[in-house]
Amino acid sequence: MKRIHALLLICAFMFGAACLHAAPAQSATVIKIAGMKPEGVPETIVMHRFGEILEKLSNGKYKVEVYPNSTLGKEDAYIANTRKGVIKMCATGTQTSSLQASMGMLETPMLFDSYEHAHKAMNGKTFELIHKGFPEKSGLRMINAFPLGFRNFYTKNEVKSINDIKGLRMRVPNIPLYTNFAKECGISGQPMPFAEVPAALDQGVIDGGDSPLGDIVADKMYEKCPVVTQTRHILVIHGLYINEKFYQGLPAQDRAWFDQAAKESAEECWANAIAIDDKAAKEVIAHKGRVLEPTPELKKFMKEAGERSWTLFTDPKSKNYVPNAKEILDSAAAYK
Ligand code: G3P
Repeated sequence: MKRIHALLLICAFMFGAACLHAAPAQSATVIKIAGMKPEGVPETIVMHRFGEILEKLSNGKYKVEVYPNSTLGKEDAYIANTRKGVIKMCATGTQTSSLQASMGMLETPMLFDSYEHAHKAMNGKTFELIHKGFPEKSGLRMINAFPLGFRNFYTKNEVKSINDIKGLRMRVPNIPLYTNFAKECGISGQPMPFAEVPAALDQGVIDGGDSPLGDIVADKMYEKCPVVTQTRHILVIHGLYINEKFYQGLPAQDRAWFDQAAKESAEECWANAIAIDDKAAKEVIAHKGRVLEPTPELKKFMKEAGERSWTLFTDPKSKNYVPNAKEILDSAAAYK
């Protein structure tokens, strides 16, 4: 009798094991993230790291597919698709200021003195004030904020004063804060999306522009414009954005994984920001470029032009008026 029992038990175990083996593995939910920058720069690094962390935390429940370099369309197109839920996530910057003007204040010219200063503000009240109301208004939520680097001019020749740039065709992003800042500097900017810059340089449509060192290296802008002047006039802050309806529909545990992956991937980026700049500067120099400090005259000019440009947000008559602009500026100043 005992032997029959044992035999039955073994059969039951083997049947159970066979069933388990035959059961189809639960397929992962695929999350596509679109971005605008090439591989190897902070935006794309964060997208990949977010994916790795989320996959690990969720034990494979979510699988992240990264589409960098505008492979899912230029920034305006993929932002629209993330709002519609065609894709669930994207990475971008102040292009989202067309949906709510306050988002432009993430990149207020001459606002942050250092990465440390900006890091505190982005992890604190400044970010909260800027982002307030954005998910309700846009259908998108910004779930982290990380630096791409401070913008510097890249040109063919040395820039000792702003007069050396006036008259040149300088590319600017097609975003009010940028076109307005160029106007304050007296530069007639050439607005175009980031993805068009390398071809515009090759074809001679533009003479130069401004970008973080990482972008200058990733798109080899130094080949046409070997002089980088480190004016550091705008800190580019990008973030991961998620479709708000999708985010709110996630089970609480899953939402916590998304939040944690967003937080950790951004923190790594802040921690690496200075090293990324240093490495990129060395690469410009290795390719026979020059990385120069601005003259005191240029530095002063940029600071004054930057502060003048804030009226874009503070003036009630401006199309980009931000009702809580003063509170945002004060909160950023308090993190100095
Ligand atoms: O956050 C906006 C910023 O990305 C615009 O600059 O040069 O990346 O198009 P750019």
